[in-house]
Amino acid sequence: MENKEHQSPTFEIDKSFFKNELLTSVGNNHLDYGCGNGYLTKEMYKSLITYKGMIDIDKITGYDIDNQTIIQTKEYNPNNIFFTSSKEELEKKAPFSSVTLFFTYHHLNIESDLAEISKLIKPSGIITIVDYNLTNIEDISSFKKSFNNAAEIEEIKKIGEEDAFKMHTKTDLNTCIQDTKNAGFETIRSKFLNPDKKYFLWVGQKI
Ligand SMILES: C[S@@+](CC[C@H](N)C(=O)[O-])C[C@H]1O[C@@H](n2cnc3c(N)ncnc32)[C@H](O)[C@@H]1O
Repeated sequence: MENKEHQSPTFEIDKSFFKNELLTSVGNNHLDYGCGNGYLTKEMYKSLITYKGMIDIDKITGYDIDNQTIIQTKEYNPNNIFFTSSKEELEKKAPFSSVTLFFTYHHLNIESDLAEISKLIKPSGIITIVDYNLTNIEDISSFKKSFNNAAEIEEIKKIGEEDAFKMHTKTDLNTCIQDTKNAGFETIRSKFLNPDKKYFLWVGQKI
């Protein structure tokens, strides 16, 4: 069977990203929301061990709405991080001290999903969102040019060009700041992750 464990469906995050941008935002009961194949969840966990010392594996949860994805994720990550697609299991693990959303924000039903995430986080809990900042792209052909690594091209094929274009150009850093504010979070910091501003990082706190 092909080993998908080492693939991220989206952004090629290098190890220094976790060290430089995330370690201070991950608490002692962490949720990776929209974890997909669990690649980034696991890379984050490895960085936590390297830079913060051993932490309890039970204190990291990967959740994805897609049960089929979670079944595969569990196969590739046996006896490892707790991965689930069950809302009930998720609620049992709550409240979380921190949550990450890697390339999941643009998939969300923003109002209801952020309200749900808010219920899962402790007051003052930290939320980190990494996603696309592509609302300035106006047509499919420019979109295809900028959406260009192997995993992204695969994603376009899976979703279809038109739907992929609509989905990936509807949110950006500004909408994230506003949406999370409406959901009861305040911005701590934000930045673009590369010179062409294709990806953003936003870190906030539940009020
Ligand atoms: C582009 S993938 C990102 C996966 C992973 N975080 C990564 O960056 O490698 C988006 C994931 O969000 C999940 N997703 C979409 N809507 C969701 C929702 N409302 N709640 C939880 N997960 C969701 C999808 O099933 C998919 O696995």
